[in-house]
Amino acid sequence: MSQNTVLEIKDLEVELLSEKGPLSVIDKVNLSIKEGEIVGIVGESGCGKSMLASAIMNLLNSPAKIAAGTIFYAGQDMTTLSPREFQRIRGKDISMIFQEPMTSLNPLMKVGKQIEEAIKAHEKVSNAELKERAIAAIRDVGIPQPEKVYHDIPSRLSGGMRQRIMIAMALVCHPKLLICDEPTTALDVTIQAQILRLIKKLRDETNTAVIFISHDMGVIYQMVDRVVVMYAGQFVESAPCKKLFEKPLHPYTIGLQNAIPQINKQQSSLQDIPGSVPMLDNLPEGCLFAPRCPFAKGECFTKKVSLKHYDDHSVRCLLVDEGGWHNE
Ligand SMILES: Nc1ncnc2c1ncn2[C@@H]1O[C@H](COP(=O)(O)OP(=O)(O)OP(=O)(O)O)[C@@H](O)[C@H]1O
Ligand SMILES: [Mg+2]
Repeated sequence: MSQNTVLEIKDLEVELLSEKGPLSVIDKVNLSIKEGEIVGIVGESGCGKSMLASAIMNLLNSPAKIAAGTIFYAGQDMTTLSPREFQRIRGKDISMIFQEPMTSLNPLMKVGKQIEEAIKAHEKVSNAELKERAIAAIRDVGIPQPEKVYHDIPSRLSGGMRQRIMIAMALVCHPKLLICDEPTTALDVTIQAQILRLIKKLRDETNTAVIFISHDMGVIYQMVDRVVVMYAGQFVESAPCKKLFEKPLHPYTIGLQNAIPQINKQQSSLQDIPGSVPMLDNLPEGCLFAPRCPFAKGECFTKKVSLKHYDDHSVRCLLVDEGGWHNE
């Protein structure tokens, strides 16, 4: 593990226990994140993005559980920690913001008090300092009149303000890693842009590592340094952001890019990928994407495909090798 690596996931497998036996939701995922790096995870609904985030945060609920692999943070494998030991890390070293702020905010408790509770869970601080830090945290997420908002309750705030408060709470103990699971999906475009700028600014100022989950390739392009594309619980492609957008290799990535709406083109140019993500209890035999892939042939339907690494670009496709595509 190199010195500035914050988190290292190795061969992580998450299973869902079902009547038909264990089903694989996350299939041997490997990922390491450095200080100050924003890694994007993109994929359609049901690909396992939130499951991966929950596994890192130790928030998996039955019937889901980690079946294999390690998640190293600060020299320890977090998958071996007791729930109590994990409490010391969650909210302090690693924080998460969710799509819906109300999953982590109490609608009726004063904003300032909630932020103070988040501090108190991890640090012993005087009341005066608690208040000062809570107000500073509210100010840091770009909220005007933080002293006033300190006394507001979330149910009286707008969606964008709540999202900011949740970010303030997630950041108040200066985490080394921030996990954002679709943090702006529920917001309108202007507020979305503000929140995205805010997360980037925080990264620039504090060098926090960020895992940024989204199903929106446009947002991923604006936000991240490196992209991982997920399909049916597997990583199918990963590369530095610019490279992935300039030279996508996996047909699924190409499909996702074609599905980005383009403002200057006719709406009819928006192409969705036909078909849908396979059910966990009915995964295809070969490449998991083959049934939807316009290029699939022969072996694609019968042979399991592994992730191959070419420098900083990884791809899981039989039709791609170090020379790129060989689809003749
Ligand atoms: N509590 C649960 N019980 C059973 N299956 C679940 C549960 N939660 C998630 N799943 C299944 O696990 C798979 C991965 O779900 P996950 O929520 O991680 O997807 P996602 O990529 O975050 O999707 P979205 O973009 O909609 O948030 C899906 O097939 C989903 O149906
Ligand atoms: Mg999700």
